[in-house]
Amino acid sequence: MTETMHETSLTVNGIPLKATVPARRLLSDCLRHDLGLTGTHVGCEHGVCGACTVLIDGVPMRSCLLLAVSMDGSAITTVEGLSGPDGALSPVQQGFAECHGLQCGFCTPGFLTTITAGLEDNPDPTPDEARELIGGNLCRCTGYQNIVAAVLRAAEITREGAGDSPGNSRCTPGPASSTMSGEAAL
Ligand code: FES
Ligand code: FES
Repeated sequence: MTETMHETSLTVNGIPLKATVPARRLLSDCLRHDLGLTGTHVGCEHGVCGACTVLIDGVPMRSCLLLAVSMDGSAITTVEGLSGPDGALSPVQQGFAECHGLQCGFCTPGFLTTITAGLEDNPDPTPDEARELIGGNLCRCTGYQNIVAAVLRAAEITREGAGDSPGNSRCTPGPASSTMSGEAAL
């Protein structure tokens, strides 16, 4: 039996695109396999790890839990869309680079998209708020401390004006409060 296909219109990183997909096609698979945007990573494929997080109309969502057809008409930002048109790193990307917020990098696209949206909501997070912001994303390599530092550094870069801030001035995760101490809180 031939599977019914559906044309889906998406605006991805500001570019209008169409994909013809079966109704069961996950958004993560559509981005990676139909649209060639392999920056979105797939880890657990059931909503736990956060590696597949993209921004849907500015809101971070797990693309492995969404059907591509249900996103028809949506504006999606993937990790490929975070940098500037000239390739300049976004403040969050710059924060990760300065503070060594990644090792293998598998989790990184999900962290970058999640933090980008989080700093829109809270441009000046405390260390505990930074920990809370990344609490839904898993990283098997870093121990999270440098990611927390990268969140704080990204906020600092954004406040100073992206791209022309003095480097590496705040690559510290800051003290954890008694309710947010240790990796268990993450
Ligand atoms: S791959 Fe989507 S949450 Fe893990
Ligand atoms: S850097 Fe390897 S999983 Fe996060």
